[in-house]
Amino acid sequence: MKKEIVVSGIRSTGNLHLGNYFGAMKNYVKMQDEYPCYFFVADYHSLTTHPDPAGLKKNVYKVLAENIACGLDPEKVTLYVQSDIPEIPELYLILNMLAYKGELEKTASFKEKARNQPDNVNAGLLTYPTLMSADILIHKGQYVPVGKDQEQHLEMSRNFAQRFNHRYGDTFPEPLAFNFGTELVKIPSLDGNGKMSKSENENATIYLCDSDEQILKKVKKAKSDQGPTEPNSQMPDYIENLFALMKLVSKPATVDSFTKDFNECSIRYGDLKMQLANDIIQFISPIREKTIAIQNDLPYLHKLMRMGKEKGRESASKTLDEARKKIGINFYC
Ligand code: TRP
Repeated sequence: MKKEIVVSGIRSTGNLHLGNYFGAMKNYVKMQDEYPCYFFVADYHSLTTHPDPAGLKKNVYKVLAENIACGLDPEKVTLYVQSDIPEIPELYLILNMLAYKGELEKTASFKEKARNQPDNVNAGLLTYPTLMSADILIHKGQYVPVGKDQEQHLEMSRNFAQRFNHRYGDTFPEPLAFNFGTELVKIPSLDGNGKMSKSENENATIYLCDSDEQILKKVKKAKSDQGPTEPNSQMPDYIENLFALMKLVSKPATVDSFTKDFNECSIRYGDLKMQLANDIIQFISPIREKTIAIQNDLPYLHKLMRMGKEKGRESASKTLDEARKKIGINFYC
């Protein structure tokens, strides 16, 4: 086991999809055997958009179940719900004193959210990066497996760590983005426009909870055309996307055979879609069934949440005690 500490937060809103699986979860599952890992469901973060209470609760259970179904092992990693660790909001409060209004307002994610929800530009939205920094620094996290869209938040967490260290003495390492492989896999959406997404173009995104029928329907509807007329033509983006998906879920021989058909202009996209749909179903259905089984087993979920909470707080309280002592707010020892 290597010594660098890995921390990552999983959003509790929206349905997980194939892009999340190949982009993030596969990375998590690989990391759990090599590093001490802290993974959590970021339910406090989700409050910035005022979710309804019943929906929030259901989503937290679902995200936990999905992650376990995809291979996260709660015995290997510390898997918890953010709001179960009171040390996180306490460190968040402390870090907020080191975060400046100007830099928070300049954050790309804040500007975007402020544009999208102009009647709910709350302080939690503004201080999202300090909460995220508290999430990471509370375990002295060094490696953070996140996508490109989180790079700015991570840079801010390095700044906050630096400021704390400068003012109060060396306490926090500076966290870095970290992923296996040099490039993150990008999972294209089925309509040829951008990536699969948690909330946009639902019909072009395959979710881990989709039924076999839904998968078949979505793949059948994917954009295609009459097929190439010249041998060895350049593939249009939307066809390349179907091949990219196929490479993830199908056997190499299957991919080779359809590639050959494409190059020889004998490809039938109906057949390709049928094969792709079946291979996606083979891949997703066991994950979906396992997720449902775990979701229906509340005692099991509660047991592992309590276990995560205990392990998480053990590490968090150590860090917080040290920070409080350095600041001078440790009165009784
Ligand atoms: N902001 C991350 C996202 O939107 C989720 C997150 C919250 C996170 N806290 C974190 C990720 C801490 C890594 C570390 O996906």
